[in-house]
Amino acid sequence: MQELSSLVERALAEVAACAGLAALDEARVRWLGKKGTLTEQLKSLGSLPAAERPAAGLRINDAKTRVQAAIEARREVLTREEIERTLAAGKIDVSLPGRGEGRGGLHPVTKARLRIEALFQRAGFEVATGPEIEDDFHNFEALNFPLNHPARAMHDTFYFPDGKLLRTHTSPVQIRAMLERGAPLAVVAPGRVYRCDSDMTHSPMFHQIEGLKVGEAVSFANMKAMLHGFLQAFFEQDLAMRLRPSYFPFTEPSAEVDMSCVFCGGKGCRTCKHTGWLEIAGCGMVHPNVLMASGIDAERYSGYAFGMGIDRLTMLRYGVNDLRLFFENDLRFLEQFRTL
Ligand code: PHE
Repeated sequence: MQELSSLVERALAEVAACAGLAALDEARVRWLGKKGTLTEQLKSLGSLPAAERPAAGLRINDAKTRVQAAIEARREVLTREEIERTLAAGKIDVSLPGRGEGRGGLHPVTKARLRIEALFQRAGFEVATGPEIEDDFHNFEALNFPLNHPARAMHDTFYFPDGKLLRTHTSPVQIRAMLERGAPLAVVAPGRVYRCDSDMTHSPMFHQIEGLKVGEAVSFANMKAMLHGFLQAFFEQDLAMRLRPSYFPFTEPSAEVDMSCVFCGGKGCRTCKHTGWLEIAGCGMVHPNVLMASGIDAERYSGYAFGMGIDRLTMLRYGVNDLRLFFENDLRFLEQFRTL
């Protein structure tokens, strides 16, 4: 019996020393399992004199119960500790600042385009589009550039092996719009155009917006008023505009549109190269050959057309001095336009 109580002491000490559930289970098997130390004690009862067996049996069972209770108590402690550990490992600090979601914004050129479209829509123009991969007919031929016409050389055209080309201006949309819609019509056609040209102020891809109004008695004066009104609305300034004679095969007469410099008000500065004027568009009265090539009665109808560089308008409106900034997609640059 002396031996039994020291066994119980040892068992309780081992159970108390178990640091994990796995070790505790091993201790349980060692003491109470089929071949456990205390189980063996019960089995050895048979070798005792019959008179001592009941008392010895009671004591051994009592010892087993004590060890069992100690194991259960220890298991509870270890289980709770494990739960605490898992909780601590997966702890979320709800007071930490959020990671933040990068909010995007429209590209400045897109913003400017949408503004330009909206201003012309308010003046009764619809928005038209055409393909960037064009054929010779729409980009040149129907616009009164016959084959071998010297004006073709002004357009540094990208050609595909099959004779198709990347449109060099948005003017081919004039032809498409007239063929599709007939007269009268008023459209603006924004989009990408391409020229084999790349330096500080030229990008091989840039954006234009074309304007075309065809109707009965549409005049040069109407065009001048429309362009001047547009520029004042777009720049929100009472700026001056002038027209200089120019040449385009698809307009006659043709003109170059200048507006007073938005930076110096016409006094002369670096942006306007000290002239006080900024060149902003090409324009003219639609050539009768172009109306005819587009199936429109040139006796009955007249029209005006203009083409502007959207990138340039955007630079002037936002005071951006390098065209390349628009195409590098540097977020530090683009983020400044998020709320404009
Ligand atoms: N398409 C001409 C260009 O790209 C601009 C223009 C359009 C001129 C319409 C007159 C009329 O240079």
